Amino acid sequence: MYAITGITGQVGGAVARNLLSVKCPVRAVLRDAGKAAPWAARGCDVALAAIDDAAALTAAFRGAEGVFLLLPSSFDPEPGFPEVRRIVTAVKSALTAARPAKLVCLSTIGAQAAQPNLLNQLGIMEQMLASLPMPVAFLRAAWFMENAAWDVTLARETGVIPSFLQPLDKPVPMVATADIGRLAAALLQGTWSGRRIVELEGPRRVTPNEIARGFSGILGRPVRMEAVPRETWGALFTAQGMKDPIPRIQMLDGFNEGWIEFEAGEAGSTKGETELETALRDLVS
Ligand SMILES: NC(=O)c1ccc[n+]([C@@H]2O[C@H](COP(=O)([O-])OP(=O)(O)OC[C@H]3O[C@@H](n4cnc5c(N)ncnc54)[C@H](OP(=O)(O)O)[C@@H]3O)[C@@H](O)[C@H]2O)c1
Repeated sequence: MYAITGITGQVGGAVARNLLSVKCPVRAVLRDAGKAAPWAARGCDVALAAIDDAAALTAAFRGAEGVFLLLPSSFDPEPGFPEVRRIVTAVKSALTAARPAKLVCLSTIGAQAAQPNLLNQLGIMEQMLASLPMPVAFLRAAWFMENAAWDVTLARETGVIPSFLQPLDKPVPMVATADIGRLAAALLQGTWSGRRIVELEGPRRVTPNEIARGFSGILGRPVRMEAVPRETWGALFTAQGMKDPIPRIQMLDGFNEGWIEFEAGEAGSTKGETELETALRDLVS
């Protein structure tokens, strides 16, 4: 049995669907009992656990052949990232007590970067979980193609998408969540020992301008990207309600300046199969 956290979200759902498609038993680990029914209907066992509840997670992970771990996104963390440390402490205590046979953990491109930025949170997670007694795979995913979900309405209604990824013709490592789900499910069914890092991006890197062209073709209207001036980001993010926009700005700088990159570079990353256009079509439909 494979215990899947984040199953009601994009990646966890894709991991579970891949396992179920090859008849692997799945335990849906979720915090909201109201979201259990579709998974129970597919034959999943259901365990209720918030990601910071060590006792409930221990019960959820017990007896698992593999655990898929996904931490909820945190775009506006407190200085020093106390929240991720608190969550990972709970998760680590549950994994230590339940002793599943292996762990696949969703991480990110740039988790190893020493420069301060938002993605340090997943670097902290990797460091805290590296010493677990079972085999651990950190699946470092590129920028999700599905982040373009935020752009669909603007593309359709105004034809202009604001971009923080700049310059607009610079290729960015991106991946579809379907490919992450496929690889995570394969890792869960595989065998390795010790700590493993797997870095994943799509079949080719894509530019913000290509996202605009993709939407244009799908929507049948002109769509273009517009670079949001760097000096306005802080005020913009603060006006959107962020308490501390700096870590997010540092992350965007990291992508734009190229220091948020895979440890093994583009040549060393695993490549998914989903093209940008397929991911954008799914978002539009
Ligand atoms: N976006 C990117 O470009 C990118 C790139 C690399 C890595 N990542 C990583 O990908 C992850 C996000 O993946 P995703 O897009 O699949 O997420 P998502 O669709 O936003 O889903 C989040 C999942 O986490 C669950 N969750 C949220 N808070 C929880 C809590 N307190 N206790 C238990 N479960 C909780 C949600 O459950 P509910 O349905 O109950 O809310 C949902 O199942 C993050 O770790 C992020 O750092 C993102």
